[in-house]
Amino acid sequence: ATARLTIDPRFRVGEVNRRVFGSFVEHLGRCVYDGIYEPGHPSADEDGFRADVLELVRELGVSTVRYPGGNFVSGYRWEDGVGPREERPRRLDLAWHSLETNQVGLHEFARWNAKAGSELMLAVNLGTRGVQEALDLLEYSNVRSGSALSDKRIADGTAEPFDVRMWCLGNEMDGPWQLGHRSAEDYAKLASQTAKAMRQLDPRIQLVVCGSSNRQMPTFGAWERTVLQHTYADVDYISCHAYYFERGGDLASFLASAVDMDRFIEDVVATADSVKAELGSSKTIEISFDEWNVWDQDRFENVDKITDIEQWPYAPRLLEDVYTVADAVVVGSLLVSLLKHSDRVTSASLAQLVNVIGPIMTEPGGPAWRQTTFFPFALTSRLARGSALRVELETPAYRTGAYGEVPLVDAVATHDEETGATTVFLVNRNLAEATTVTVDVSGLGNVRIVETHTLNDDDPYAQNTLEEPDRVVPVENKSAALEEGVLTVELPPVSWTAIALG
Ligand code: AHR
Repeated sequence: ATARLTIDPRFRVGEVNRRVFGSFVEHLGRCVYDGIYEPGHPSADEDGFRADVLELVRELGVSTVRYPGGNFVSGYRWEDGVGPREERPRRLDLAWHSLETNQVGLHEFARWNAKAGSELMLAVNLGTRGVQEALDLLEYSNVRSGSALSDKRIADGTAEPFDVRMWCLGNEMDGPWQLGHRSAEDYAKLASQTAKAMRQLDPRIQLVVCGSSNRQMPTFGAWERTVLQHTYADVDYISCHAYYFERGGDLASFLASAVDMDRFIEDVVATADSVKAELGSSKTIEISFDEWNVWDQDRFENVDKITDIEQWPYAPRLLEDVYTVADAVVVGSLLVSLLKHSDRVTSASLAQLVNVIGPIMTEPGGPAWRQTTFFPFALTSRLARGSALRVELETPAYRTGAYGEVPLVDAVATHDEETGATTVFLVNRNLAEATTVTVDVSGLGNVRIVETHTLNDDDPYAQNTLEEPDRVVPVENKSAALEEGVLTVELPPVSWTAIALG
């Protein structure tokens, strides 16, 4: 098969916001405990954080980290996680049926973020709590000093404000599984009141209102509409969440997951813009795609769920998906989808970061390693600079059970006007054959190939494991050649590729 595309700096979609390369740390399973935090580990630093994990997080190129949940936040009392550690309560976490020791809380996580070089993004609990608790957390976090809660933060050990700018107004409030789940109308009123109050305290903050937990939710569309009708003036972003996995052995459909993400984003944009017109507003709402990944939810339902009421395990092995090459190709293509919508998707979080559906895995007392999904994220975060460009793709299509006819190849490019650096990101969904892609790069002037990376394997189900942590790594694509303004490259079956030009 063959496909063609054009890279021209004039086909600009929008600036790539660094916040698109965010991730997510939830108090869930072994994400925090025995993930980022393991005081007894040989690599642990003075705060009990694993230095090997921190190094991988920096290599991953994570911009923002959403915290502390997720479903967890809807039952969380943030005060439990501050003050002397020996006095912190042990709580039952209803979301994941686990024991929460609160040894990591706001101060510890802010310190970890500083070490990781990432920005802290906080979610407030609008499940079991409301306006006052959100205000308290904001005062504690962002007010310099001279008030009860800012002075308490100082007494608790952090003199400077945490100065958190991105705030989520609850989590997945459309989901019946959510503690405090409510109707769109009820949530919208609470979110609007909370947002107004929080802005009264700190007008610099940016607020994310909950959109749908996925595009298949029965309330999808209507939820966004109602929520934005009530909160349009109060918020900056609406969230999208989506998880994909291979259902019933249908790899062809799974590889086309980004088609669903494209439609999801475009539907939410259309809904937000229709509310904008209805309200006569001049403001545009952006999308925070603040949970996205591959996650085998069938496995979660059947294997992971803890239901025994006598047992509330500490840091259990939950949602520890081991990713394949095909999963990594999908992750790469979901990043292509996010970049293609750079005009409206200006924040996103790969859910999650360590052990729990994470690109990084750890063993207690043992090593940390990169899952297959680590690579497309790290490379896209490093190479996608400047603006995202449309590429006017001409590609064969194939039929899928889940999404009908879909493009065989997907692609996006980025271009940095200052440095001239340009990168094209490509996905080949062909199960059996390579696809040769021709790229017209004449619009870029005199450029050459700087680096190429292709992720694929003869076995699309190959994985990196504790025993074989480097089984799958991206390799140079030696087929790439650039001559007289035309780049040609062969994309192996089920593969993800990045080619940087400069
Ligand atoms: O990331 C795992 C869970 O997925 C989150 O806690 C929740 O928000 C979503 O349903």
